[in-house]
Amino acid sequence: MTDFYDNRRVLVLGGLGFIGSNLTLKLVDCGAHVTVVDSLAPGLGANWFNVQPVRNRIRVVVSDLRDADRLTALVRSQDVIFSLAGRVSHIASMRDPLIDQDINCRSQLSLLESCRQHNPAARIVFASTRQLYGRPRYLPVDERHPIAPVDVNGVSKRAAEMFFTLYHKVHGLHTVSLRLTNTYGPRMNLCGFGQGFMNVFLNRALTNSRIDIFGTGLQRRDFNYVDDVVDAFLLAGQDDRLDGRIFNLGHADHASLLEVVRLLQRHADVDFRCVPFPADYAAIDVGDYYGDFSRFHEATGWQPKCDLAQGIAATWRFFDQHREWYLESEHDSGVRSVQRIPAASTRD
Ligand SMILES: NC(=O)c1ccc[n+]([C@@H]2O[C@H](COP(=O)([O-])OP(=O)(O)OC[C@H]3O[C@@H](n4cnc5c(N)ncnc54)[C@H](O)[C@@H]3O)[C@@H](O)[C@H]2O)c1
Repeated sequence: MTDFYDNRRVLVLGGLGFIGSNLTLKLVDCGAHVTVVDSLAPGLGANWFNVQPVRNRIRVVVSDLRDADRLTALVRSQDVIFSLAGRVSHIASMRDPLIDQDINCRSQLSLLESCRQHNPAARIVFASTRQLYGRPRYLPVDERHPIAPVDVNGVSKRAAEMFFTLYHKVHGLHTVSLRLTNTYGPRMNLCGFGQGFMNVFLNRALTNSRIDIFGTGLQRRDFNYVDDVVDAFLLAGQDDRLDGRIFNLGHADHASLLEVVRLLQRHADVDFRCVPFPADYAAIDVGDYYGDFSRFHEATGWQPKCDLAQGIAATWRFFDQHREWYLESEHDSGVRSVQRIPAASTRD
């Protein structure tokens, strides 16, 4: 699988963030020439420390996806483009809907336009989300499930996904969308506003603070360890047979939020309590969710290798070792990290 990327030119949008940086590390390992683009906007997942192991072997361009001219210059001559830049917070999408729409949808269309005009041969993989299904009507959720997003983020992502499919159908671009479920692992954003519950639980456990679980804690979810998600992106980025298609990722096992806390308690002496949902969270909560990823498995052979207990243990080890880079501020860990990165950094 990884030979494909040897000597390829690869663009990772959002490559200083959680999934993008893990993907970048793996691509460098595979011999790819990686350019990372990231806005480093405060409060999002960008953190210079995420790419520290490879920072002298990649090019990093600090730029906002909304700068269409810059984007156009960057997409030229790339073999593969991974579009992971985005705003991930569902609650933030309700508070700042226009920004969410601008970045998660309009900028993706702008990327497709740049590719159509300047690099139609590139393969483009888009990070979509299971959030667009809304509250599941049946489980596990497959790709035929009705689309009924409960928040602006879900609408923006669905619209972007449709642009990716449309640009394949009409313009022949090589696009594929992966609908991610809860993804966790080293380098995730522990401090930004409105992060997912796994991010919040980890932060609380690492800081020995009590975890508040919204609701009963019995709501069930599936989880992918980030290395498995990186493998899925690598597969999607190299296979023309996937052109124009949309796939769920997921995990055959699912767990309740209480079970997640119990797994964290293997590593940290952390207390928890169940509290009522705040009203704005309750309005966009989807309840139980777990996905059916058999379509992607049949197309590529992909299936997750890491179970939740192993993944949480590996995640814990990483953050316990590097906590200073991830817990330094409630709001701007990535930006502060910029100031601390050595001058030898390849910041463009
Ligand atoms: N983490 C998950 O559980 C999950 C689940 C479903 C979907 N996704 C999708 O996967 C993608 C990556 O998620 P992540 O968890 O790595 O998030 P992240 O916040 O850690 O990384 C996103 C990166 O994108 C960058 N970015 C945001 N807006 C930008 C802009 N306008 N221009 C340039 N860079 C910009 C941020 O600075 C950040 O580094 C997102 O698109 C998200 O919607 C993630």
